[in-house]
Amino acid sequence: MNRTVLITGGSGGIGRAIAEQFIRAGDDVLITGRSDDIASSASGLGATGVRLDLEDIASIDELPTILASGVDVIVNNAGGFAAPAPAADADLTAFAEYWHRNLRVNVVGAALVTRALEDHISPGGAVISIGSIGAEYAGNPYSASKAALQAWNAGVSERLGARGITANVVAPGYVEGTNLFGGPLGAGRRTALVERTHTKCVGKPEDIGSIVSFLASPKARHITGQTMHVNGGAHTTR
Ligand SMILES: NC(=O)c1ccc[n+]([C@@H]2O[C@H](COP(=O)([O-])OP(=O)(O)OC[C@H]3O[C@@H](n4cnc5c(N)ncnc54)[C@H](OP(=O)(O)O)[C@@H]3O)[C@@H](O)[C@H]2O)c1
Repeated sequence: MNRTVLITGGSGGIGRAIAEQFIRAGDDVLITGRSDDIASSASGLGATGVRLDLEDIASIDELPTILASGVDVIVNNAGGFAAPAPAADADLTAFAEYWHRNLRVNVVGAALVTRALEDHISPGGAVISIGSIGAEYAGNPYSASKAALQAWNAGVSERLGARGITANVVAPGYVEGTNLFGGPLGAGRRTALVERTHTKCVGKPEDIGSIVSFLASPKARHITGQTMHVNGGAHTTR
């Protein structure tokens, strides 16, 4: 379709599957990563690589220059367990670090990327942010940050709607084939997560790519301010 699409954290996992769907559709795709070889991993995919760390404001601040001629779709995909839980007897400084880093990566990062590019988004464009099923259940900083992402998204939708720009969150359940958990899950944990679904299946990165490409398409022009759950029924909306 020849749109310009920015996907944060697009070199692996869910972000890579999202990138592949836009590339197949004929769009110009920019993916971001923290490592110095992001340019070469992006070119192997048929995309452009941009070095970006959501905890480094200066790298986010470069985006308006990189995308000076405009952007049609922003996918705020980068995220994860940004800091491990401190030991039970850790001091408040360690506890603050646990909260601040998770909030910084999973919600403040999306807000800053979107804010930096807001004036560059074309009419008819879309902002799509990857949340998590965890927002519905857990109270740890990662899950709380994904819940905050939904609240933030509602404001983006309201602010950009008059320009014909939609803003939605896609909230995956467990998706296999990513590095979110730093490697494969133990068999017991995996079985428990599969049992929670109605379909008795794990999600694949492509399942998330499909809904993101739909939400970015003109067919979804009247869907905005929403959270779309993709989890095989592990969480239902009532
Ligand atoms: N997999 C699941 O079961 C699941 C479920 C619910 C939600 N999600 C969400 O899906 C999204 C994609 O994660 P994934 O499952 O594909 O995991 P992943 O394979 O670990 O990918 C995470 C991506 O986020 C990027 N990232 C992490 N911290 C960053 C930071 N500080 N600055 C810039 N980029 C950063 C990583 O970039 P680098 O290349 O630089 O490491 C990587 O590309 C995340 O938002 C995650 O919370 C995943």
